[in-house]
Amino acid sequence: MSVLADTKPLDVLADFPAIPAGWHYLDSAVSAQKPRPVIDAIEQGYAQDYAAVHRGVYQRSADMTLAYEAARRRVADFIGGSEREIVFVRGATEAINLVAHSWAGEQLKPGDRILLSQLEHHSNIVPWQLVAEKIGVEIDAIPLTDDGKIDLDAMAAMITPAHKLVALAHVSNVLGSVLDAKRAADIAHSVGAKILLDGCQAVPRMPVDVRALDCDFYVFSGHKLYGPTGIGVLWGRYDLLDAMPPYQGGGSMIDRVSFAKTTYAPAPGRFEAGTPHIVGVVGLHAAIDYVERIGLERIHAHETALVTATRERLSQINSVRLFGPADSAGIVSFAVEGVHPHDVATILDESQVAIRAGHHCAQPLMEALGVPATARASFGVYSSLADVEALAAGIERVTRIFG
Ligand SMILES: Cc1ncc(COP(=O)(O)O)c(C=O)c1O
Repeated sequence: MSVLADTKPLDVLADFPAIPAGWHYLDSAVSAQKPRPVIDAIEQGYAQDYAAVHRGVYQRSADMTLAYEAARRRVADFIGGSEREIVFVRGATEAINLVAHSWAGEQLKPGDRILLSQLEHHSNIVPWQLVAEKIGVEIDAIPLTDDGKIDLDAMAAMITPAHKLVALAHVSNVLGSVLDAKRAADIAHSVGAKILLDGCQAVPRMPVDVRALDCDFYVFSGHKLYGPTGIGVLWGRYDLLDAMPPYQGGGSMIDRVSFAKTTYAPAPGRFEAGTPHIVGVVGLHAAIDYVERIGLERIHAHETALVTATRERLSQINSVRLFGPADSAGIVSFAVEGVHPHDVATILDESQVAIRAGHHCAQPLMEALGVPATARASFGVYSSLADVEALAAGIERVTRIFG
């Protein structure tokens, strides 16, 4: 019980109006609840400051443009890039599709290979399959270690100069396994491959510095970082972005349009066709301010301690099988012997405990684990030992119901 006793709450629950007393929200990996400063920023964006960006000559539009571009600088500072390397997109899914289309679609040739891993989210599999089918490229998957991490020794053994791109989750959305991203980047670069990191589950849980990781592309979604839905980020090394063709055509992404020849804006504008999610960007800025006020190191320590407490507590229940590594970042997948995860989640809901059950958009991982689905508890800044205790008590009730 020492870990349970040592786990101090961050004491921010009061910032989250959509988490009523007694409700245990353990589904932050799918989407985080929103703190008051983010809700206020969105409200102010629409109720006071609203105007379209980039084209207006009137003051309000100029001010909104400044706010939009300030958010780009804020995102760049947050992950260690430069502002011209930040592309605003709808989310990680769109970011990966953009790189698959505009980088891989241009650079890869028949016979080239793409290297993924067995634990990837479908968003980091299907976009590569779409482009691979079109070009005639093969996809390989790195296996996992026994405790559910991407096996980098296996990666080093299987990568070849035919691999032009490696795309890996920085943190697994199912197991919480943390990738040694710098080592993965070194292995990718040793054969001249580029590496994209899917940072969806990492950015809300730990400090990220894209330069220190030495990656080529990094993607994440705002809504998992306590920000709004519909806004996300693609970071790419500028020399790569600069050489990539547009992903979508439309307003804002052009330099000059004529029927004879159209030329495009430099990156990142070239990749932001159409009216962007202006207030989403403002909300994302507020979300980054919010997590940085708490501190990503503190958030990481807090969630890691909750994982330890959860694994310790659930391992006292005989019928529970835990998946993933002990040092998972904020996510615990488990199964209750003889009970379908959907039944586990439904019964937990009766006790006001909200978890996720299913394949978590990671069907190849389910296959590797030899299960059709898992139950998953995932933590956020508002999570506490009370949530862990409610989860454990709910699972004990499940085991009583199913005998
Ligand atoms: C690891 C990972 N990658 C990609 C995604 C896709 O994110 P979005 O649906 O916000 O584009 C998710 C969402 O669950 C995720 O957890």
